[in-house]
Amino acid sequence: MAGKRKQKTRTVHVNAGAGYDVLIREGLLSYAGEETVKVCPKAGKAAVICDGNAFFPHGEPVEGDLYDAGLSCAQFVLEPGEDHKNVSTYAELLAFLADSHLTRDDVVVALGGGVTGDMAGFAAATYLRGISYVQIPTTLLAMVDSSVGGKTAIDLPAGKNLAGAFCQPSLVLCDPLALRTLPEDVFRDGCAEVLKYGVLYSREFFLELKALMEGKDAAKGPKYALRNYLEDIIETCVTMKRDVVEKDEFDRGGRKRLNLGHTFGHAIELCSGYRISHGKAVAAGMAVMSRAAVKKGYLSEEDARLLEETLRLYGLPTGTDFTAEQLAQAARNDKKASQRTIDLIVPRGIGACDIVRIDMADLQEWIEAGLAW
Ligand code: GLY
Repeated sequence: MAGKRKQKTRTVHVNAGAGYDVLIREGLLSYAGEETVKVCPKAGKAAVICDGNAFFPHGEPVEGDLYDAGLSCAQFVLEPGEDHKNVSTYAELLAFLADSHLTRDDVVVALGGGVTGDMAGFAAATYLRGISYVQIPTTLLAMVDSSVGGKTAIDLPAGKNLAGAFCQPSLVLCDPLALRTLPEDVFRDGCAEVLKYGVLYSREFFLELKALMEGKDAAKGPKYALRNYLEDIIETCVTMKRDVVEKDEFDRGGRKRLNLGHTFGHAIELCSGYRISHGKAVAAGMAVMSRAAVKKGYLSEEDARLLEETLRLYGLPTGTDFTAEQLAQAARNDKKASQRTIDLIVPRGIGACDIVRIDMADLQEWIEAGLAW
């Protein structure tokens, strides 16, 4: 193994739960076993819960590496897609962990995108009242957002992420090389979350992301254009998220800002029966919200158009065909909605957003305002 480490590993420490590191470096997947046993020294077994799409490029090498580090592996391959993130798959996962005789000293390894991380995390959070888990995200979306911060969940028929737990992982390993095999379209989903961090916290970061899609490599698509900047991009997003999570682990205050575009985005996903992916829905949700923010006097039209233009550069949608009535009905089922009011994340500039509590009765009008100019 000596000599394999060429670059410096970037480490973002998250002081939540027992505290854990997010490690970022090209080639890190080859160290999955070594890094896992460092944080779970008593583990004898790893239950690898892997997305069907991630298994072929990554499943066997990661399991081989865990094995080399002294862990025996049990394997559960998930059907890909949000429509499997449900109670019945969750029950299968619990049965798998029990049948594999995992003990409290052992570890669950979530290998895949956001759906895998959410479900494996929830199974780990609840099996034996909680065992350790390691996140190995294989999509950009999961690297910059869902693998960090300890939100685990499954969907219920009434809406997304309606059953879950806050449970921080023991370690997150982000290897940008894993993104090479990601379909362009799935990579774009992650770009929506990356752009979200710019809208929330940094105009400078947002403009850098825009410039990358205006440069010489842009014609080949975001995956190619961003390929040499992924460690920086992931580190920047994870650091921003870490700062938020450390202040508000349980999503009672500032962490709600991370839901920019999500209230309307979840509604779009739900209305589409999850045929519209999370990233595309969040992109459209951010655009709807920003147009509404202009009409309600929070945001300049110039900044809203800047957001639209940048989403388009990334090949992301800026609108939806669902009606305000359909979307409002779906959003009312969102878990973040209390009975009479709902918190919206409203941009007041690229780089700054407010949490605005509105009456539920006004939600449809906000959506209507944002559907078009
Ligand atoms: N994905 C939003 C959050 O972790 O709070």
